Amino acid sequence: MIYLDNAATSYPKPPEVIKAVCGVMEKIAGNPGRGGHAGALAGGRIMERCRELAAEYAGVSGPEKVIFCLNCTDALNTAIRGTLHAGDEVLVSHAEHNAVLRPLMGYHDAGKITVRMLEPDPRGLLSPDTVRRAIGPKTALMVLCHASNVTGLIQPAQAIARACHDQGVPLLLDAAQTAGTEDIASIHADMIAMPGHKGLLGPMGTGLLCLGDGMLPRPLREGGTGSASESLRQPAMLPDRLESGTANLPGIAGLTQGLKFMLRHRGAITEYEQTLRARLREGLGNISGVTVYEGPSDAAHTGVISFNLRGMDSGQAADALNQQKIAVRGGLHCAPAIHAWLGTAGAVRASLGPFNTDRDVDSFLSAVLAMAHA
Ligand code: ALA
Repeated sequence: MIYLDNAATSYPKPPEVIKAVCGVMEKIAGNPGRGGHAGALAGGRIMERCRELAAEYAGVSGPEKVIFCLNCTDALNTAIRGTLHAGDEVLVSHAEHNAVLRPLMGYHDAGKITVRMLEPDPRGLLSPDTVRRAIGPKTALMVLCHASNVTGLIQPAQAIARACHDQGVPLLLDAAQTAGTEDIASIHADMIAMPGHKGLLGPMGTGLLCLGDGMLPRPLREGGTGSASESLRQPAMLPDRLESGTANLPGIAGLTQGLKFMLRHRGAITEYEQTLRARLREGLGNISGVTVYEGPSDAAHTGVISFNLRGMDSGQAADALNQQKIAVRGGLHCAPAIHAWLGTAGAVRASLGPFNTDRDVDSFLSAVLAMAHA
């Protein structure tokens, strides 16, 4: 199988990730924060190490600012639902995923908030000046998809963060497609949502919300935290405020190893994926009947390329590739707004990871070439 669906979840995982998941299942007898015996304490140390690594990568001021979530969608929901108030206005880019659009539009349709989607330039880049001009007295939050899961185009997040901060508006960064390959810390976003199972190379069912100083969302769920148990009320302090119930310790142990792997190979992974992307892009450019959807050639992209073949539905094309054991994703990628902006009813997406090879890319290109000539 040639796996080119790393934007959905990365595969394979480094062996140490799998070992750590199994290690917890086999050896850790205890629930972190629930008991003072050896197993409970060992589990707690695994969680703490994961928080430390994530805090370092995201550039937040302490491990307590790292919240374990179910996935990136859960992290985004926590940030959105936990900070907005009735009457607020929220600005979003055209590239947002349904993980952002659906919670926001639910509130919008109920008349609780107003959502404004900002227009990018004709090349797909959102200008910080557009953000600056759009901010008004009711703007309470800007949500930015750091890189589209369809085009891979990376937005100028650092300048957009500055535009927001100049006017006192917090920025929620959706780093679903960039966590693990891009420098997240230098953006100085106020809240950063990351999946654990994509570029951070951890297991599915893990996600992180990293909070800047002063950010204290209301919890989505309340319950046992293992702390302040005498109180009938949810603790106010982080991370307990936002983490109720038993954690996904096997997943977090795997994520710790994924983070370590990523931090050890950081620049090299990004550079390698860019080399593969260039090969893939060049090859697709040489196949007649292929239309690629992307940003300007001088702009940064993640290792994602979406395209269509003339006269072929994207779902059919993806199925044909999948039947040849080449895993790609067709359709709308849960990102209908950017497809509407592109004028597409779907696209075939090939997304690269650190374990893909030139051979994977070449086999994929041969399969696409054969389909284009069929
Ligand atoms: N949001 C992920 C994707 O783009 C699952 O495929």
